[in-house]
Amino acid sequence: MSKAFDVLVIGGGPGGYIAAIRAAQLGFNVACAESNAYDDPKGEPRLGGTCLNVGCIPSKALLASSEELEKIEHHAADHGIKVGSVSMDTKKMISRKDEIVTKMTGGIQYLFKKNKITLLKGHASFAGKDASGYQIQIDGKEKETVTAKNVIIATGSKACHLPGVVVDNQLICDNEGALKFDVAPKKLGVIGAGVIGLELGSVWRRLGAEVTILEAMPSFLGACDPGIAKEAQKLFAKQGLNIQTGVKIGEVKADKKGVSIQYVDNTGKAQKLDCERLIVSVGRVPNTDKLGLDKIGLKVDERGFIPIDDHTCATAASGVYAVGDVVRGPMLAHKAEDEGVLVAEIIAGQKPHIDYNCIPWVIYTDPEIAWVGKNEQQLKDEGRAYKAGQFPFAANGRALGMGRSDGFVKVLADAKTDEILGVHIIGPNASDLIAEAAVAMEFKAAAEDIARICHPHPSLSEVVREAALAADQRALNM
Ligand code: NAI
Repeated sequence: MSKAFDVLVIGGGPGGYIAAIRAAQLGFNVACAESNAYDDPKGEPRLGGTCLNVGCIPSKALLASSEELEKIEHHAADHGIKVGSVSMDTKKMISRKDEIVTKMTGGIQYLFKKNKITLLKGHASFAGKDASGYQIQIDGKEKETVTAKNVIIATGSKACHLPGVVVDNQLICDNEGALKFDVAPKKLGVIGAGVIGLELGSVWRRLGAEVTILEAMPSFLGACDPGIAKEAQKLFAKQGLNIQTGVKIGEVKADKKGVSIQYVDNTGKAQKLDCERLIVSVGRVPNTDKLGLDKIGLKVDERGFIPIDDHTCATAASGVYAVGDVVRGPMLAHKAEDEGVLVAEIIAGQKPHIDYNCIPWVIYTDPEIAWVGKNEQQLKDEGRAYKAGQFPFAANGRALGMGRSDGFVKVLADAKTDEILGVHIIGPNASDLIAEAAVAMEFKAAAEDIARICHPHPSLSEVVREAALAADQRALNM
């Protein structure tokens, strides 16, 4: 008799492993199928998905290492610290990152054991359905077919590649190859000034690479508040990132000497960029192929996403749900996690809800960029009457003490009711500061609520409070 589960999760990334843990907490008999070994030395499937293995966590480890280097090289002297010659052991930096990844993925295995979740090692696909539930075929070292009453598809996404540009993850890399250069390239090309291009471009710039980022759109950071994007462009240019917008990529050739990229710049002039390595970061596509969706009557949309009910993440097949990068919405690990929890609770008969307007976004550049809610352009397009309050980190004692005074916080609130509609930050620790704004928006707070709440002094959080005060023209320290 085949193994039978109440809930089977396909994919062990942030959407999938969190769904599995929450379902187990709710008393279900749970399995999670994972096939990707990433760089596991034994070739065993690793939990954690893109985020832990080749995305959020490793990139943040490299960002931290490169920021330490930059601090020592360029900012230690500001504090009166004299240092001798500084060099970077890139191999050590990469192995530190690998150790963090191994520790984190091992941590999820521990959580699976603790919650009695069965890990099915192999590629899962639908084989059919009968009265006992869905039959799922697992293709691993051995083949088996298991049964599940409920299935959560959390198969994530993969890097989108450009036609005719072969990613070998040596010379031409996507996010996976760009996290393991053994030495910083002298010249690095990046196609796409999105989140990955800016984050990884920044890492390798700090390690000494001359970085050119080629972006197709006339401006960059299209999802950001326009004021924040403008400030980011100014600060990134000052750091030495060469970002060219409005380009059209032509032929890309790789040989022993490196990579050459033909492109047309925003004035229509033909240009060529020669570099040692190239990162292609032009977005991601959902992993929905080879899932056997046709066996249970499901189809993907024209972009490969699985259609779902917006509120419940339920697909058209009863008892089958989909979460994270395979469905609509931002491709963010924390959005996937929240959808995983939501689905587990729905299966348990609860009535959870996600307010997608309150999902924070973060870009881990230096300074960091983070926001939640609507930006000024969106409010203008909606014709919504709003007021804006802005406060710079340069007027905050803690930021000055840290030597991190670039950037600002902007609070947008309804002109009549004062309800916070969006908070936008470019500055130090923006990824942590935005959490206060997300809480405030979930509670439908007014700008005045943040303004009246006592914030610790001296701290960066005072900038959020001052921006809230500024929305009512009464910032105290400006
Ligand atoms: P992205 O969607 O952020 O940016 C892709 C960029 O490439 C866009 O600016 C686009 O206009 C440009 N582009 C597309 N085709 C092009 C072409 N032919 N030539 C030149 N430019 C072109 O995608 P990215 O950076 O690859 O990231 C993928 C996903 O991963 C994103 O959806 C993001 O949400 C997620 N992610 C999130 C992170 C975070 O939350 N901090 C970190 C890294 C990734």
